Amino acid sequence: MMKPLPVIRIGICGLGTVGQGVWKHLSRIRPDLESRLGVKLELTRASVRDLRKSRGVKVPAKKLTTDSLAIATDPNIDVVCELIGGTTVARQVTLAALAAGKVVISANKALICAHGAEIFETARRHGGHFLFEASVAGGIPIIKALREGLVANRFPLIYGILNGTCNYILTQMEEQDAPYTAVLGEAKELGYAEADESLDVQGWDTAHKAAVLAYLAHHTWVKPKQMIVEGIDRITPADFKHAVALGYGIKLLAVIARDFETDELSVRVHPTLLPESHVVAKVSGVFNAVSVRGDVAGTTLYIGRGAGQDATASAVISDLVDAVALLKNDRRAFITARKASAPARPARACRLAPLEHIRCRYYLRMTVSDEPGVLAQVATAMAAKQVSIASVIQSAHEPAGAASLVLTTHRSDEQAMRATLAKLARLRCVLEQPLLLRIGDFAD
Ligand code: NAP
Ligand code: HSE
Repeated sequence: MMKPLPVIRIGICGLGTVGQGVWKHLSRIRPDLESRLGVKLELTRASVRDLRKSRGVKVPAKKLTTDSLAIATDPNIDVVCELIGGTTVARQVTLAALAAGKVVISANKALICAHGAEIFETARRHGGHFLFEASVAGGIPIIKALREGLVANRFPLIYGILNGTCNYILTQMEEQDAPYTAVLGEAKELGYAEADESLDVQGWDTAHKAAVLAYLAHHTWVKPKQMIVEGIDRITPADFKHAVALGYGIKLLAVIARDFETDELSVRVHPTLLPESHVVAKVSGVFNAVSVRGDVAGTTLYIGRGAGQDATASAVISDLVDAVALLKNDRRAFITARKASAPARPARACRLAPLEHIRCRYYLRMTVSDEPGVLAQVATAMAAKQVSIASVIQSAHEPAGAASLVLTTHRSDEQAMRATLAKLARLRCVLEQPLLLRIGDFAD
């Protein structure tokens, strides 16, 4: 008689956009995965907040609960997918499941950024495992690329678009001249945005993802307060017109840079003018792009859908396959490989570079009174801080009597630019807070 296949029991905490995607695709491809993996996969239980809500997937009522912690601690469940979001219930569920020695699969970059050290330590202490491919760049397997494919490398520069919602908004604003608020509503309807969309548009979600990548690449936890974090909420359709006139597109980028000579790391998130010929400038809609410069492999670039139900479910299911490998046989070999690329106890975290030392070129847009001498006042304020002007565009602006002034600078540093902004804000002729964007000069 044939031995029955081992059964892997899966609990899904959270059946929203991502959870329903996992349920839907796993139900569809289960027979194929089972025959490839040599196990039975059972969607055993799922938790939600509201049992009466109608959903896009059919889940038997007896499998549904509102008690996520009961799933995390259920001895019959092997793998817990935490797809709730946030950092309270999600943290409890994650820690409880890891403490019970389970495999936890997470798409929750906010949680990893806030509590990653505690989560990895709990997994290490109790023999649990924490997999998080879906937490960064949606359907792009960037975590695997850094941990496995590029394990021979050190990473002087990683940069890219990590937020699908913002890239969707920026693309629509540029291509359709659409107002910011209307496009944000569309991104929410499409299931791209976070439950609290300010995390997307103010840059925090990108910062959370940058923290995850920085940890993988440099074994150092960088908190958002240690980064420059600026969002897209002050960009207007006019900025796209100015950027195009200057030969640029605008993207919200994360930039993770390590200088191996000084051994300093910096992480920043901000809207960036990229030359329009740059491949990342052409990445539009919900798509993400991550450029990884490795000292051995050179630069590799990853492009794909960065948010949404299907892309994210694809990443969660890839972790599920790793979870099966972990649970089934090859346990020791897998753990050894994981520890080598993402140690639970990093031997040495690197130093963080003072943010005010970051250097680049800048774009400055301001509304000024349209009267004689204004340009001279602005130029004097900038010269006082040693900021050198590279180009000037002046155009009419509503209301009458005001003008829009767009300047680009030669290379300067954050300290000088911040001092310049403060000086400009004190000029009577500057009518509202100037908008500062960085210009990205990435060689590849
Ligand atoms: P979502 O649509 O808001 O779904 C959240 C789910 O969690 C809902 O089913 C909700 O129940 C449930 N839930 C909330 N609080 C709960 C509680 N206390 N107990 C039990 N269930 C609870 O969120 P999502 O977009 O799927 O995102 C889930 C996670 O994936 C987040 O960490 C997010 O950052 C991450 N992520 C999302 C995407 C994306 O494209 N959406 C991509 C990558 C990563 P009800 O349905 O009953 O309200
Ligand atoms: N809100 C996130 C985004 C979801 O738009 O990128 C994917 O992490």
